[in-house]
Amino acid sequence: MTIASRAKKVTTHTLQEMKHAEEKITMLTSYDYSLARLVDGAGIDVILVGDSASNVMAGNDTTVPITLDHMIYHAQCVVKAVDRALVVVDMPFGSYQGDSKNALDSAIKIMKETGGHAVKLEGGIEILDSIKRIMSAGIPVMGHLGLTPQSIYKFGTYSVRAKEELEATKLLSDAKALEEAGCFSIVFEKIPAKLAKKVTEELTIPTIGIGAGVECDGQVLVLHDMLGITKDFSPRFLRRYADLGSTIDSSVKAYIRDVRNSDFPNKEEEY
Ligand code: KIV
Repeated sequence: MTIASRAKKVTTHTLQEMKHAEEKITMLTSYDYSLARLVDGAGIDVILVGDSASNVMAGNDTTVPITLDHMIYHAQCVVKAVDRALVVVDMPFGSYQGDSKNALDSAIKIMKETGGHAVKLEGGIEILDSIKRIMSAGIPVMGHLGLTPQSIYKFGTYSVRAKEELEATKLLSDAKALEEAGCFSIVFEKIPAKLAKKVTEELTIPTIGIGAGVECDGQVLVLHDMLGITKDFSPRFLRRYADLGSTIDSSVKAYIRDVRNSDFPNKEEEY
């Protein structure tokens, strides 16, 4: 029996045990009750209420505009649906950078109002004070390094990060600082697979990759991307497990046709 199959409720401790046992950790995003119910029911280990909700749910170009209240709303919907998975809530841009007291207040608001189990913050040494202050209140923190979409205006592109030695060295020392501060896990987004392997080997906490190769301790994808609901985003790391976009398109077209032809509802579908 695996650690994942034994866990009635996944905790940060479960993830740590999975790393030690070399069992891969699975993580997907969710932003609403209905899909979170399906994702949890299918047996995912971690559900991330990602600030990618800004793109996927709200149609923004970046994750910058989403607010703390929006994130709390999405997390409340997800938490109601989940029986087993660990629910991690992204702290949105502006809710933790610069001022550790503000960071603590934001994290406490998320935990109190949503019932989520942990928060995720983007960045390394620059946000260490905020991370430590949040953890001092007993709130588990997941880190996020590599491509950090909240800093898009600093970097200007969504290209692969830490390809050069200087940036790779900074990423490794950031990762170690996050581990030392007490983060229970770190997401690595869009970094070379070789670097992700090295960091994964050097850290004792689990690493979760997105575009970071197979050697991370776990993987995460944005649910709407892997289900083929979002079509205009096709990075190389994205594997589409379904084409729900086409299924929805043909279903809606069939409905329109049936209503227009008075084929819906039929005798069995009326009272
Ligand atoms: O917001 C999000 O969906 C994320 C994942 C890409 C890791 O942070």
